[in-house]
Amino acid sequence: MIVLGIETSCDETAAAVVRDDRTILSNSLISQISGHQPYGGVVPENAARAHLDHLHPLIEKALKDADVTLDNLDGIAVTAGPGLIGGVLVGVMTAKAIAAAKNLPFIAVNHLEGHALTGRLTHDLPFPFLLLLISGGHCQFLEVTGVGQYRLLGSTIDDAVGEAFDKVARIFGLDYPGGPAVEKLAQKGNGKRFSLPRPLKGREGCDFSFSGLKTAVRMIAEKHTPLSPQDKADLAASFQEAIADCLEERALNAFKMLQAPCKHFVVAGGVAANAALRLRLSTLSTAHGFSFVAPPLELCTDNAAMIAWVGIEKLRLGQQDSLNFIPVPRWPLCASKNS
Ligand code: KG4
Ligand code: ZN
Repeated sequence: MIVLGIETSCDETAAAVVRDDRTILSNSLISQISGHQPYGGVVPENAARAHLDHLHPLIEKALKDADVTLDNLDGIAVTAGPGLIGGVLVGVMTAKAIAAAKNLPFIAVNHLEGHALTGRLTHDLPFPFLLLLISGGHCQFLEVTGVGQYRLLGSTIDDAVGEAFDKVARIFGLDYPGGPAVEKLAQKGNGKRFSLPRPLKGREGCDFSFSGLKTAVRMIAEKHTPLSPQDKADLAASFQEAIADCLEERALNAFKMLQAPCKHFVVAGGVAANAALRLRLSTLSTAHGFSFVAPPLELCTDNAAMIAWVGIEKLRLGQQDSLNFIPVPRWPLCASKNS
């Protein structure tokens, strides 16, 4: 089975071709980062226009790189939410057009499910597993027992962790997206120099809170203005260490909240590309008898291979969507805790 995946929900236009034996035949991506950098974040209107310009040639490239044509496909999977609706519409309308013209199954994929199931594309990973989904807009622990079967254990009560990285980057005057830039800065810093809070530490459950941490970074930055390069590196390292401590402490609680016999701990989403956080979570997993699964960096951040993969998982279960499917700008993986 071969599926074409399309991703246009944020600032990456992406198309990929994936086979059901977990082979990524092609994975093409055009980042709009430089176009959005002057504005310090993604401008939805500009993103939608850029997706419109790039998607068609990108799909042609993905097919060519994979050495297939539309006639070799068994389905078209596309991110249908959550995300910036203009961009999502560009992807969904394109996918529907191809599906209609070629009479192919159409699969409307939840972007978060793309991140959630990436571990099964990159590793021989069975259900159930514990998932920590950390991206620019989401931060949650989920118990995953099957395709479409998610139990929410905890989530952020304010900022997502990627959002915290991006806001802290702005304090340092670093370009959007801030996560990779803060990580680079932190590598040269002393993470013990500044004392920062560990929000929700000691509380039961595995919810997160990061907005106080970001404010604490801002206050220290203001107090030490003008920041020397070493001050910035030390503050970035102290921030990253505080995030690692929070994720670790919350993960310990999440381990205890599992109902299914999970042996695997999967981390996914853009922030999972952070090497320091991966190392911390991997060490913690091993110490508690979990195998740790983290996708390669290029499959942590947004991509279309993960969307094609969800298409494959759903087609295997006989699931597909109608061409009347309406894109969903806000689309949680599961409605609330205990659902
Ligand atoms: O999953 P993703 O590509 O897009 C969303 O669906 O949100 O995640 C993007 C987020 C951004 O906030 C970015 O700053 C963060 O992931 N990020 C990182 C790193 N690479 C990307 N955060 C920390 N360290 C990184 N190396
Ligand atoms: Zn994402």
